[in-house]
Amino acid sequence: MSEKWNIGSWKGKSIQQAPNYHDVEKLATVEQQLYNFPPLIFAGEARRLKNHLAKVANGKAFVLQGGDCAESFAEFHPNNIRDTFRILLQMAIVLTFGASCPVIKVGRIAGQFAKPRSEEFETINNITLPSYRGDMINGMEFTAKSRQHDPDRLIHVYNQSASTLNLLRAFSQGGYADLHKVHQWNLSFVAKSSSSRYVSICERIEETLAFIEAYGITSGTTPQINETDFFTSHEALILPYEQALTRIDSTTNNWYDCSAHMLWIGDRTRQIDGAHVEFIRGIENPIGFKASPNITPDDMLRLIDIINPNNESGRLTIITRMGVDKIEIKLPSLIRAVQNEGRSVVWLCDPMHANTIKIGNYKTRSFDQILAEIKIFFAIHRTEGTHPGGLHFEMTGQDVTECIGGIQGISEKHLADRYNTHCDPRLNATQALELAFLIAEMLKNERTSNNDCT
Ligand code: PEP
Ligand code: CO
Repeated sequence: MSEKWNIGSWKGKSIQQAPNYHDVEKLATVEQQLYNFPPLIFAGEARRLKNHLAKVANGKAFVLQGGDCAESFAEFHPNNIRDTFRILLQMAIVLTFGASCPVIKVGRIAGQFAKPRSEEFETINNITLPSYRGDMINGMEFTAKSRQHDPDRLIHVYNQSASTLNLLRAFSQGGYADLHKVHQWNLSFVAKSSSSRYVSICERIEETLAFIEAYGITSGTTPQINETDFFTSHEALILPYEQALTRIDSTTNNWYDCSAHMLWIGDRTRQIDGAHVEFIRGIENPIGFKASPNITPDDMLRLIDIINPNNESGRLTIITRMGVDKIEIKLPSLIRAVQNEGRSVVWLCDPMHANTIKIGNYKTRSFDQILAEIKIFFAIHRTEGTHPGGLHFEMTGQDVTECIGGIQGISEKHLADRYNTHCDPRLNATQALELAFLIAEMLKNERTSNNDCT
């Protein structure tokens, strides 16, 4: 892949999961409009995230990445954005305490609207229509009109992403992210959960906050007390959209995809000679790719060479999603291959995508299996001497009933109550926070024997 990259060079490669737009003129008009819209992020912010991720690659920080499987137009509401942001902050404070190192917060938000699908078509009552591919491409309603791929949706995605990002920026810099407030929210969670394990972690965080305040570290002296860095990310699936938002950064003369701070390519679109890899290799943002049990160590090394030829720390994040039954067989050889070649990567665990099961008509995931994959992920990295860099969740701040398990005791019979996702089942706010507490507890216990974050 030594051929020269340009912003449209992906068009010469074979492409998977591409939308099928009938009206190509309309697509061209939409692309032109997007080209003229302001970038959603500034290249300097993407560089800042890359610097943070370099610390993760070097074992000095953690990443918490999470949000909806698919954002939707129908669920667009300030309260939903607020609640996702809030639960991520709540998780982050608990994990920061558990890991005793900074936790980099990256939302799956403000652009995560398109879904790769295993089946191109869906048949219901003998009627076959294109599958729903996320609101960026078509509508969920099972009618021919709604399932048609419509380029105008790209403009809708841009606008919704811009206002989502605007609110996130206001929350993260405007005082909403105050550590004391986030801790108060955790206290009320703990009070409701009546779990003594969580009470003890909360009490220790409380003591730490009181201590630093007594020491004169307050929002007046230290902006980190009531401000936070919050970054955005999504799967770079729909390349006409990504291309239209890719701009030359005037301060460095490099190309940045200004639709999000970080972009990843999914497990179904990471072909070495494919369009998505071609596009992504030329942009300077931090990049991720998903790795399912299908990936071989050789594939992984080739992808690393293409995406991160200069072995820049923080450039590349590998998001493994092996499933609780395969992670022990697959992950160690992948880690060893990368280590043997001396390649710097961030390792994240996505414990969601290979632990999906079907119960009745519902796709769901079990809290216990999600936790089990995370625990094995940490244990394997400890054995291999590498840094378990963080976690990637599909989650929401809402009280949905999409995944089973956790302290609320959500079981199969509750799935129908509030199953609202537009694609895969998400952890609800309680389940997400409970996981953070359990992982923090595990990390705290580990720290006496293994301490790679300080
Ligand atoms: C996703 O993250 O929503 C997704 C489709 O993941 P993967 O590419 O790992 O299947
Ligand atoms: Co998903």
